[in-house]
Amino acid sequence: MTEQNACSEMVVVANRLPVRAEITKAGTRWVSSPGGLVAAVAPALSRMKHASWVGWSGLANGAVTPFEHNGVRLVPVRLQQQEIERFYEGFSNACLWPLYHDSIEAPGFHRIWWDSYVNVNRKFAEAAAQAAAPGATVWVHDYQLQLVPRMLRELRPDLRIGFFLHIPFPARELFLRIPWRRQIVEGMLGADVIGFQTSVTAHNFRYVAPRVSRATSSGKVLNHEGRSILVGTFPIGIDADRNAEMAKSTETASRVEEYRELLGNPRKVLLGVDRLDYTKGIALRLQAVRELFDEGRLDPADTAVVQIAEPSRGNVPGYQTVQAEVERLAGGINGDYSSFGTGVINYQHQTLPFRDLVALYRLADVMLVTPFRDGMNLVAKEYVASRTDHTGALVLSEFAGAAVELRQAILVNPYDIEDVKDAIETAVNLPVPEQRRRMIAMGKSVHRNSATAWAESFLAALAQFGAGSVVSPAARV
Ligand code: F6P
Repeated sequence: MTEQNACSEMVVVANRLPVRAEITKAGTRWVSSPGGLVAAVAPALSRMKHASWVGWSGLANGAVTPFEHNGVRLVPVRLQQQEIERFYEGFSNACLWPLYHDSIEAPGFHRIWWDSYVNVNRKFAEAAAQAAAPGATVWVHDYQLQLVPRMLRELRPDLRIGFFLHIPFPARELFLRIPWRRQIVEGMLGADVIGFQTSVTAHNFRYVAPRVSRATSSGKVLNHEGRSILVGTFPIGIDADRNAEMAKSTETASRVEEYRELLGNPRKVLLGVDRLDYTKGIALRLQAVRELFDEGRLDPADTAVVQIAEPSRGNVPGYQTVQAEVERLAGGINGDYSSFGTGVINYQHQTLPFRDLVALYRLADVMLVTPFRDGMNLVAKEYVASRTDHTGALVLSEFAGAAVELRQAILVNPYDIEDVKDAIETAVNLPVPEQRRRMIAMGKSVHRNSATAWAESFLAALAQFGAGSVVSPAARV
């Protein structure tokens, strides 16, 4: 590929590439990157021609030679070990992540983290500027890269730039604590369209932007430095058709039966699938199950709980604490309630292949999605899409973005353990006709608001608004 035709009409910029490098004895192995961002953006991008994806490989000092993967040109950005510690583990995941999730853990405001965040954002902006063809569209993703839109516009004023925040944008009192709040807002305002998962979080941004920068607001549009920026709501979706097809396959059916056997043929299976993150409410969920056993409201002899906890950000202290807590609770329940050979809590601190997850979704009578705060939560949507016979029950946190669309779930306040217990009990005993009524309605929504529909609606708004036109937003606000 020559440098000239290496320039793309469409460039995605995200902290991670869609695949991450793992070093094994046999050499480098590329595996799918964790998290909902990749799960949603990758299928949408694979349908586009001549697209590039700028991101980090997951390694310190990794190679930077671009390569092709699933028809997309991947452009690695090199991070040094110190940048991983300060930009990724520090500012991104020990300052912004906890703060944007309602400050569940105390955020750290360290100037050396911030300096690294600025420097790494500049690296991404420079890589994107090189990858983009004249007049191209560049779509920047998530909280790790909020400064990129402005930096990129300074380098390449010819580009159409979109920015999408996958996680919540916090309430004003929280955001305003950040010592570098003005720079963050101005960084995002370098985009033509800024997208959020929910209307409440879009509103939070519209409120703070004029208070910390020179932006003025008029409805969904902010004006800044002579440019208009559309601030809209674009709830992210999944590839529901692929999910449903996999769920219906004979391979999945046999995997479901294997899992059922392994779990000792329980009457009811309860499932949680999360990155091992303190925002996900895993420990409270296990405590709720334990109390239901203690109170005789759930029978451990005919119940299996499966908790998949995907390893995540293990060097960040808050993650080590939650891991210890989850493992203590799971071990305690098993010690008190399991019989030889079959643990009532089946806890896996592992990343499972998607096919195995779909088999577990098929197997689970009850899906537990109880984060304290979540931008969207695609696991909830994957469960619904996998229930092609329309049975099953979803217990869903009110504070996950998915709760806006999945109104027929059993909604809970994840901070209220009695509410979570009641919801689990209701879900376990939900009559099949009621399961079907709810699942059919949720299935329609999940298929309608797919990953492709999400990407198309964002890019349509960007095509229209990035051309400098008067606003006529396609965004749902
Ligand atoms: O959606 C939130 C998010 O941080 C994504 O940006 C990221 O891809 C995913 O979760 C996984 O996190 P990490 O890249 O830190 O492992």
